[in-house]
Amino acid sequence: MRTPFIAGNWKMNKTADEAVAFVREVRHALNQIEGVDIAFCPLFLAFPALSDALKGTKIGVGAQNMFYEESGAYTGELAPDMLTPFCKYVIIGHSERRASFGETDEGVNKKIKAALKHELIPIVCVGESLEQNEAGETHSFVSGQVRAAFAGLTTGEAAKCVIAYEPIWAIGTGRTATAAQAGQIIGVTVRGTIADIFDEETAQLVRIQYGGSVKPENASELMAHPDIDGALVGGASLKPSFVELVQNSVV
Ligand code: PGA
Repeated sequence: MRTPFIAGNWKMNKTADEAVAFVREVRHALNQIEGVDIAFCPLFLAFPALSDALKGTKIGVGAQNMFYEESGAYTGELAPDMLTPFCKYVIIGHSERRASFGETDEGVNKKIKAALKHELIPIVCVGESLEQNEAGETHSFVSGQVRAAFAGLTTGEAAKCVIAYEPIWAIGTGRTATAAQAGQIIGVTVRGTIADIFDEETAQLVRIQYGGSVKPENASELMAHPDIDGALVGGASLKPSFVELVQNSVV
């Protein structure tokens, strides 16, 4: 019922030229893979060239961040309208932005609302730290992040969102949550909280990705879990073997 969605988060990697050279290499193979939505989230400067290089394919472009105001004195920020000519998606509240750039739950909520208003699909990131995980606080913390992020949204708006559950201890560490662990948090905590705030029908519509050291080797096991609807992929989306990762996700 939910189409799986694999998004590559390139973070602060690949210049615009490198981004275009890379997608030229992989776009044909990725475009052949059926039953999955695919996107790349490059640096802002690569949006025009990358969206051009992906024209005529089913591969979308996403932003890694965005500000919620329409325009004004916000040095270094980009408004939703500045993304819409190029982007279909926008990552909001990635743990690296929360940890290093002061993103708050309140800001995340405002950004989600602004993205939806401009018809951008938010990829809302949630996930616990290693300390929280070891202290048994995963459920309460992640559920709280979901509640804060979705506060004040209508059911229709919530259903359009994508959520990425990314345990911080699994990001860039090579340490992946098992499919059972990730599926449990995604199904019970994340989808359960959406059902609690809205209703079961909305919870069944929201796509929830897993993120954190997803690779070609572990993609099929993770994606086989009925509650995991795709992946937000960092390091492994920078390499041509991302094609295998996506192929393995749909078999
Ligand atoms: P990783 O990053 O795949 O390199 O662990 C995932 C992410 O931060 O979205």
